[in-house]
Amino acid sequence: MKTANIGIIGSGIVGSATGKGLKDLGNNVSFYDIDISKIEDLKKQGLQATTDLESVVKNSEIFFICVPTPDNNRKIDLGIMESAVSELSKECRKKPDYFLLVVKSTVIPTTTENIIIPLIEKYSNKKVGNDLGVCFNPEFLRESNPYEDFKNPDRIVIGEYDKKSGDVLEQLYLPFKCPIIRTNLRTAEMTKYANNCFYATKISFFNEIHLMCKEIGIDSNIIRKVVQMDKFYKNHPWEHGHSFGGKCLPKDLNAIIAFFDQYNIHDPMLLKAVRKVNEDICTLNAAEVESSQQAALHPPEKELFFGNHDFVYKSHRAEDY
Ligand SMILES: NC(=O)c1ccc[n+]([C@@H]2O[C@H](COP(=O)([O-])OP(=O)(O)OC[C@H]3O[C@@H](n4cnc5c(N)ncnc54)[C@H](O)[C@@H]3O)[C@@H](O)[C@H]2O)c1
Repeated sequence: MKTANIGIIGSGIVGSATGKGLKDLGNNVSFYDIDISKIEDLKKQGLQATTDLESVVKNSEIFFICVPTPDNNRKIDLGIMESAVSELSKECRKKPDYFLLVVKSTVIPTTTENIIIPLIEKYSNKKVGNDLGVCFNPEFLRESNPYEDFKNPDRIVIGEYDKKSGDVLEQLYLPFKCPIIRTNLRTAEMTKYANNCFYATKISFFNEIHLMCKEIGIDSNIIRKVVQMDKFYKNHPWEHGHSFGGKCLPKDLNAIIAFFDQYNIHDPMLLKAVRKVNEDICTLNAAEVESSQQAALHPPEKELFFGNHDFVYKSHRAEDY
């Protein structure tokens, strides 16, 4: 494997685990952070770390952006990301050769395309795709065990602007013995949210069961253990795109919701939402079947194109509509 010169922009939990993990594979890694205490700490561990962005940019050809994307009023705050990308891009103006920017921070779908790439092009005066590549590469590590988790991934997701960007990043990850999933930028961004929302939903689901059980004197620990032992559990929930049905699922969902509603003991909100989503997908699928039947009868004169770039254009210029 060819070794790479890597710059880590933001050397906190994700940045330091990423940098240390990639250094272990033989790459040259420079850590950058605006927080001097982080840099001193990394230096004490014998790592190459600095608060001088210019030197990191000069010595690296692959950059991992690992800055915070915090919550602000229940929305993502991209302020830190925007300023980090702008500063990095200004320094990159002088870079003579092709380089790769990898966004590792969690950002909502379309952010890399609609916000980050325009900032890179504006401040670097370079063209993504020609002068540099861009990838979004979500990190699935846990805060409690970042370094070990980074080194032992169960899958690596590479969201790529173009094939060349993805090829460069994949080279770096080849020593990892796990599946590498290559996709477009927004799909990769969404994988991280789906993963975290799934965990959040699972916990809230059992909390709802717990609240229901508590009201009628049932030990929810026994319930959880029994559900966890279900041998169908692993495969069954991964289906999607169609509603659940059959003899039991709709009937039993209705019955337990009705029971708690009737006695006004606990409002099973999540179960009601589950039912609503099921009804919505049913309606949508029925409408799609109807429209495909119509389309077969009356084929459209011209195909509409809703590819990536078309969407980027539209979502970027809402005032056109
Ligand atoms: N912590 C996790 O378990 C975890 C897991 C997966 C993904 N993420 C995501 O990764 C991103 C980073 O999270 P984290 O937990 O490593 O955050 P962190 O706060 O531990 O580290 C971020 C670092 O960025 C530095 N920084 C801030 N502004 C900067 C700038 N302009 N230039 C350079 N450095 C700057 C900070 O000083 C800090 O050291 C977030 O988007 C987070 O959601 C976190």
